[in-house]
Amino acid sequence: MERKKITIPDLMERKRQNRKITMLTAYDAAMAFFIDQAGIDTVLVGDSLGMVVLGYDSTVPVTMEDMIHHCQAVRRGVRYAFLIGDMPFMSYNVSREEAIRNAGRFMKESGCEAVKLEGGLEVAETVRAIVDAGIPVVAHIGLTPQTASKLGGFRVQGKDAASAQRLLDSALALEDSGACAVVMECIPDKLAGVITRSLEIPTIGIGAGKDCDGQVLVTNDLLGLFEKFLPKFVKQYIQLHPLIREALAAYKEEVETGRFPGPEHSFKMEAKDLSRIRTKKKGKTK
Ligand code: KIV
Repeated sequence: MERKKITIPDLMERKRQNRKITMLTAYDAAMAFFIDQAGIDTVLVGDSLGMVVLGYDSTVPVTMEDMIHHCQAVRRGVRYAFLIGDMPFMSYNVSREEAIRNAGRFMKESGCEAVKLEGGLEVAETVRAIVDAGIPVVAHIGLTPQTASKLGGFRVQGKDAASAQRLLDSALALEDSGACAVVMECIPDKLAGVITRSLEIPTIGIGAGKDCDGQVLVTNDLLGLFEKFLPKFVKQYIQLHPLIREALAAYKEEVETGRFPGPEHSFKMEAKDLSRIRTKKKGKTK
């Protein structure tokens, strides 16, 4: 049976049927292809791009150009999954008009089917304006990496009653503004369960426990490709780092000792043709 392209109504239906939604990040066509082939429902071109691919210490320096460039690559690798791209820091925070303009440009140029933006009550009206302009929006609450320094670093959010209430109020306001899903990052599992049961739109958790409607991880974390730090909520399904190091060291050693390339990696030509080549020193052709 031909696989069906995933759409927003499919994600809503998943929630109604209590079937979990899978999401992973991708930043290039090759990995996006693997993820799509694995049957993952949604692919996020996260601005985690800045940290896991571009080598920045945070997501703050990532630009619209960076995001659009990588989304276009991911688009070429994805056929079935629903494709979401992160609006970079300050591309939706200055004014509603600018947010709509940037979200519009993002949709036109990136190939994404929805934009994701970070924030709670304070961005709800911006979300409404972008949705009213015809652009699907995925919200992102809890630990919001773009404003991590304001939150006091990469730490769990919503642990006391007041901040938990604010997160629930934010999720409800974002749903009311027309968001089609909410990513919840680094919040207590019980709170994530309460929010999930309070919303009609799906919640996608990262460090938010198992009661969310779906889960997302940064693919480079899951594969053990990013070594700088490993948040508690990451499960590494494989550790590719040591394997990559081993392969690179073997390559270096084989080139240096002349074991690579071997005859099986080389191309042949007829000796009679080789002998007809005129080299500078006649008769010295090897
Ligand atoms: O940027 C990102 O990859 C994200 C996920 C961690 C949800 O926002």
